[in-house]
Amino acid sequence: MKTVVFGTGHVGLVTCVALSIKGHTVVGTDVDAEKIEMIRGGQPWFFEPGLEEALREQLDEGRLTFTVDPRDALGSAQVVFICVGTPPRADGEANLIAVEETARIVARHAAGPITVVEKSTVPAGTAERVKMTLSRERPDLTFEVVSNPEFLREGSGMEDALFPDRILVGAESGRGFQTMRRLYDPWIRDGVRLIETDIVSAELAKHACNAFLALKISYANALARICERAGANVRDVTTVMAADDRIGSAFLNAGIGYGGYCFPKDLVAFEYLANRLGYDFGLLREVGKINDEAVEAVAERVQEALWNLEDKRIALLGLSFKPETDDVRFSPSLALARLLIEKGATVVGYDPSASANARAELPQIEIASDPYEAARGAHCVILGTEWKEFSTLDLSRLRALTAYPVFFDGRNMFDEKQMIRAGFTYVPTGSRPVEPARRGGLNASAHRASA
Ligand code: UDX
Repeated sequence: MKTVVFGTGHVGLVTCVALSIKGHTVVGTDVDAEKIEMIRGGQPWFFEPGLEEALREQLDEGRLTFTVDPRDALGSAQVVFICVGTPPRADGEANLIAVEETARIVARHAAGPITVVEKSTVPAGTAERVKMTLSRERPDLTFEVVSNPEFLREGSGMEDALFPDRILVGAESGRGFQTMRRLYDPWIRDGVRLIETDIVSAELAKHACNAFLALKISYANALARICERAGANVRDVTTVMAADDRIGSAFLNAGIGYGGYCFPKDLVAFEYLANRLGYDFGLLREVGKINDEAVEAVAERVQEALWNLEDKRIALLGLSFKPETDDVRFSPSLALARLLIEKGATVVGYDPSASANARAELPQIEIASDPYEAARGAHCVILGTEWKEFSTLDLSRLRALTAYPVFFDGRNMFDEKQMIRAGFTYVPTGSRPVEPARRGGLNASAHRASA
């Protein structure tokens, strides 16, 4: 089918490539000419595993093109995807100006009949607004608005788009459902589950999923705070919980909290929507508060261990909001860096791919070219993001480079025995610090492991 995709961000560009792989003719468009230029040259403007290769292949196939001017493409399009940004306003409400502007452009240049697919995460009720805009701008246009929220995760975006665990379509007429069944036919034939609902339920379901996943993480992080005080181990506690099929293990890892461009903004947007509808969804506020506390808890433990932070040098491994991405938006690791810098510390960060973005976001951070350089002369090392490459670190070498051998594991990535063997005082998330038996000093009452 002939499709036009508005927005070439993490969702939009991956959608363009996935639709093209499945045989559709796709024109991707964006208001940012520089991004379009890069993408046309086969270079995504952000890092996503497998995307660059797949983009180049599809550009060569000839089914996928990009433009800053979608007018021509809209004239023959059957389906339009809205994948533009919905950033938060100061009060948490989603800013839908780009969605409205896209609807206006579609109205002006579509020949119809056309299906307008809302893929950006938007508050329930947005499709009604899109419909209103389309009919006001073009009373003669035959169109259908459907909701088709995207569940892909950064870092595994291509795989999630090609092999999703479900496809959700909200529509209000048989024609809308039929168009989307045709479009997703290659996925449906592969056995992917299609869930069809009314439009508002589909819109709301996306917020409900993200908020619930954030809630699971915050539950684990609240447990971590209790375990640290009680002398229990949050890894053991969540292992027991995860063994119950009704709970499951996913998104139950305690750490420095969730970040990225979805959970934090969707959570506040969902609460804002609930409020507007007259329901005080206080639970969501708590989820956000516990997430902030996860960062503050590490900063407090660092201060406890190092005493004054002025003149202290802190190595921070991992700066992106999660592994396999160069995205630092709402990164908990950077939030921690900011907090430590405010308290007077010097933070030297290392990240396999997010260093440039981190420096742009937080210019006060020093950037090292490898983990060992970051650790040189550091008074402690903090793991902020669990990149796979950190699992093969030479911990003894890392320890030998530090001024004080203290390691804060903000993602519970390491094994306690490994750390003790390397000579580190190991401070996991959600349990008490462990020191090599022969060493005194830090939290001596918490000795419980031998070298
Ligand atoms: C999320 C949703 O998973 C996806 O379905 C939606 O479309 C967009 O938002 P994403 O933001 O890419 O995807 O990342 P995700 O893998 O969900 O992780 C979000 C954050 O939670 C990361 O900062 C991650 O480090 C953190 N996290 C995840 C935890 O702190 N603990 C966990 O157990 C799991």
